[in-house]
This record gives sequence, C-alpha cells and structure tokens, in this order.
Amino acid sequence: MSADTASPFSTLKLGPITLKNRFIRAGANEGMSLDGTPTQALVKHHRDMARGGVALTTVAYGAVAARGRTLPNQIWLRADILPDLKALTAAVHAEGGRISMQLTHGGSFVTSVRVRGATLSASSGINKAGLLCGNLWQRAMNEADMAAVTGEFVRAAELCREAGFDAVELHMGHGYLLNQFLSPLSNRRRDEYGGAAANRARFPVQVLRAVKQAVGQDLAVLAKINVADGVRNGATVEDAIVTGRLLQAAGADMLILSGGRNIESGWFMFGSNMNMQEMSKVLAGQRLTLAMLKLSQRGVPRISFRPMYFLDYSRRIRAALDMPLGYLGGASSLADAQLAMQEGFEAVVMARPLLHDPLLVSKFEQGLTSESGCTHCNGCVPYIYDPAGTRCIENPPNDPALNLKPARSTPG
Ligand SMILES: Cc1cc2nc3c(=O)[nH]c(=O)nc-3n(C[C@H](O)[C@H](O)[C@H](O)COP(=O)(O)O)c2cc1C
Ligand code: SF4
Repeated sequence: MSADTASPFSTLKLGPITLKNRFIRAGANEGMSLDGTPTQALVKHHRDMARGGVALTTVAYGAVAARGRTLPNQIWLRADILPDLKALTAAVHAEGGRISMQLTHGGSFVTSVRVRGATLSASSGINKAGLLCGNLWQRAMNEADMAAVTGEFVRAAELCREAGFDAVELHMGHGYLLNQFLSPLSNRRRDEYGGAAANRARFPVQVLRAVKQAVGQDLAVLAKINVADGVRNGATVEDAIVTGRLLQAAGADMLILSGGRNIESGWFMFGSNMNMQEMSKVLAGQRLTLAMLKLSQRGVPRISFRPMYFLDYSRRIRAALDMPLGYLGGASSLADAQLAMQEGFEAVVMARPLLHDPLLVSKFEQGLTSESGCTHCNGCVPYIYDPAGTRCIENPPNDPALNLKPARSTPG
C-alpha cells in the first residue's frame, strides 16, 4: 500500500458521525422480525456484528410503510416498535459499534403481502412480482403519491433518530420502489420523472434531499444504488454516475455501490447463482412459491464467482465522483479490503463473509486470519424465509425461540 492509501482500520467521518474503521456490514435481510417487529434474534445478530469489529452494521429491509412491505414479517417502521428499535441500537452501542437502518419501500415488488388496490410503481401495468399474492396490477405514481411516500421515508428516518440509530441507508437498488424509477426496465414514464437518467433519478433524489433535511444534522444519510442492472436495456454504469452526482448534490454522505435486480438479475447482484438446493429445503412447504422461483431461474446464465466482482463498474464510478463511496460485491479477504482502499473507496461493505463469521473483522485486525471461509454458495439466502432467520449453512442453526420474542424483551 502506498503511504497515502487509508488503512481499512483507520477512522472514517461520514457526515455527522465517525466510524472506528472502514468495514461496514451490508444490509442483508436477516428474517429476524415477526409481524413487522424486530426480535431478540435480530438484537443478537447485530450485537455479534458489532462485537466482531464492524464499524457500522446495517439492519436490513425496514419498510417505511405497511404497503411498502414485500414480506409479511419484514420490519415496518412505526412508533409501536420504538422500544424494539432502541433495544437494537443499545446492544450495538454497548459493543462500541454504530448502527444504520436500511429504509425501503417495495413499490410493486410486494411478493407476499396483499395490498389494497394497485401497488405503487414508476409505471402502470401488470405486476409480475405480485402475481402470487393477488397484486396483479401496478400503477404509475402521481405527484401526490410521491409527496406521500417522501413523507413516509422522512417519518421513518425520524423514528430511527429517536431510536438512537447513527445512520439511515435509502435503498435505491435491486428493484424496489426507488429503483423502479431509476431503472429503464421499470420506468417507462414520459414526464419529467422518465426518459433520461437525470429524470429517472428525480424522485429518488427528492426523497434523499427530504430525508437529509430532516435528520442530516444527526444521522449519516447513505444510499445504496446499482452500479448497473446487469441486463440488456437495464440501467448502465453511465446512469449510475448521473444518479450519484445528483445524490451527492442532494446531500448524500456516502453511496454503497451494489448491482442487479431481484427479478431480472439476482445472479448479477450476488456474483454467483442462486442455491436452488437449499431453496428447495427451506421452501419445502410452499410449493407454489418454490415453483415460481424455479421458473424464474430459467434462462439465467451460469456464472462463476469472482472476488471483487463489481470492481470494474465501481472503479468507473469512483473516477467520476468525488464523494465517499463504499465498495461492495465479493470482498472477502483482508487483501480485498486493502485493494478497495487503494482503488480510492472510503469503505468496504460485506454481507456473506460476515454471515459466515461475524468475528471476521477483528480476526483480520488481530492477524488471526486474512481470508473469509465463505464459499459464496448462496445457501444463506433462502434462510431469510426460515422461522429462525438467515444463517450460514456451514454454521450451527439459529435458536428459533429468539425469533419469537420481541427485541424489547432482550435481557440486559
Ligand atoms: C441472506 C442475504 C440477504 C440479503 N438481503 C438484502 C437486503 O435486505 N437488502 C439489500 O440491500 N441487500 C441484501 N442482500 C445483498 C447484500 O447486501 C449484498 O449486496 C450481496 O450479498 C453482495 O455482497 P457480498 O459479496 O459481500 O455478500 C442480501 C444478501 C444476503 C446474502
Ligand atoms: S451459506 Fe455461508 S458459505 Fe454459503 S454464501 Fe452464505 S455465508 Fe457464504
């Protein structure tokens, strides 16, 4: 490493907060909430992350509204769960870590919750993602819908501040509502919210600006965006650069660079194919869902995992933007983290390696290991549907009892 390359163990200032090192746990749906309420299992999960040395751990998939939930048990941010959110933040802070909440709205990607009327999206039409639960139609949001959803993001961010979170991350990737605007795969609008990349970014940027204005003095405001959708006619890296510049101007403290869409290009998101063997085990009782998932795998390219699989795309974004960027995608060794720093990224963001071993960062720091044992088999992904929550299939099972008790009842 050259003398002016940051060490991954050096501190990082992100807006109003400072991280103790450059390792961030990526938002990765834990499946550890019940009827929208965080459970004791979620507290344990993120306490373990903080204890294992990550500077900022991200609680995944917090829906900003009931109709923005993709899954029935998914966290739904409302005042009722304030004590549960406080239990989460207190547990992480007690370990010296910082904690972020990923804020999301599914839009039309509402796969398992019946929504009254058509689901919201950038454009109208048949809603493929909603077929299983009867959400057959989606409708293009109008300005009043946009104002209402912006308000929901703001209220959710304010709730996170009240609960003691250090950051919020707006989910603008992977095919959820804000991404449905960004991607030409789902945005066919002819008004100022459609067409050129800057127009497609208009609504997501409005949301970020409003959240920043509301909580930006106290919380870091991050956004997770796609470097590209990874399929023909999808958003490109050039689009991501336009989006990134606009988000920076709106006040984003950092962009987390991901890629791919749940329906069209899950393999691109993970840099490896879905693990259908584990999926069949976990969803054995849900034959229709499993059949749909198997169908969705038809025509998917077979790909081999490559370390740092988004580096070529992310490098281009790094060269075009002068704001903090978190490298994500197949980083799993100390050398990968150092490479991310050499390439000019401010942080390294990991999901699977930390599911495999929550102690990984402290082991890197103490010289106990330099490489994660994660094989990127994606066996953990189907376990977001398991009653005990997600886990690495190479580790012992989680205690399902912890996923039945609300976080607020966690013993002190
Ligand atoms: C079990 C699991 C659940 C995930 N759920 C989410 C999620 O809720 N939100 C999100 O933005 N990304 C989610 N992801 C994607 C990760 O954040 C990350 O983009 C991806 O795993 C690639 O990073 P990695 O190579 O460090 O694992 C999930 C990943 C895994 C393994
Ligand atoms: S199941 Fe374990 S080894 Fe496989 S990808 Fe997930 S964390 Fe890695």
